[in-house]
Amino acid sequence: MEIKIAPSIFAADFMDIRKAVNLFEETKVDMIHYDVMDNHFVPNISFGPKFIKDIASKTNIPSDVHLMIDLDKNFKDYLDLPIESITIHLESANGHIMDYINAIRNSGKKAGLSLKPATPVDALLPYLHAIDLALIMSVEPGFSGQNFMPEVLDKIRDMKNIIEERDISIQVDGGVSRETYKQVLDAGADFLVIGSAFFKDKNPAEWVKNIKRKI
Ligand code: DX5
Ligand code: ZN
Repeated sequence: MEIKIAPSIFAADFMDIRKAVNLFEETKVDMIHYDVMDNHFVPNISFGPKFIKDIASKTNIPSDVHLMIDLDKNFKDYLDLPIESITIHLESANGHIMDYINAIRNSGKKAGLSLKPATPVDALLPYLHAIDLALIMSVEPGFSGQNFMPEVLDKIRDMKNIIEERDISIQVDGGVSRETYKQVLDAGADFLVIGSAFFKDKNPAEWVKNIKRKI
């Protein structure tokens, strides 16, 4: 599978969002990752649908929306946005996972399921037939700039074995940096979310090219 990269706009300076989007365009990333937090599922607040819509309607870069919210309250607002994929957390779906996945697919978007670090990959087994993306969190969701949890590498390997030949992308999110990305790719991930390390990097365009070539 071709390696994909999505910088997390949550790690941008909110005073300079246009500059961040210009950087994403110049560095030729595959998607923009939107971390939506509503202070219920995670102890933090980021932004909501208007923020995503304003940006997504003004750039050609596809949007990858990662919902860390109380789905029962705030989910529907995201279905009408001009975005390509929506990932929900297995732990936030309150037993209605298939309903949410079906709603995402019926809105014409790709559907992703995400796991917090402590949730075993086996929990995804009942949903493999219905998802396009499996997101393995490598930090506790809620904040940018945390350290990568190396114990997650085994989960990535297990996930790779579990999906076999299915057309499911393995996305890894949290603490991906120049120091950690190779292990993540070697373990079997094909889609990297990069937050703070992307904005801090001296030459993100070169880094993006290296990631694509796995060097
Ligand atoms: C955490 C978010 C991540 C985070 C990534 O809840 O899902 O996308 O912003 O930021 P870094 O790469 O700095 O860990
Ligand atoms: Zn994320």
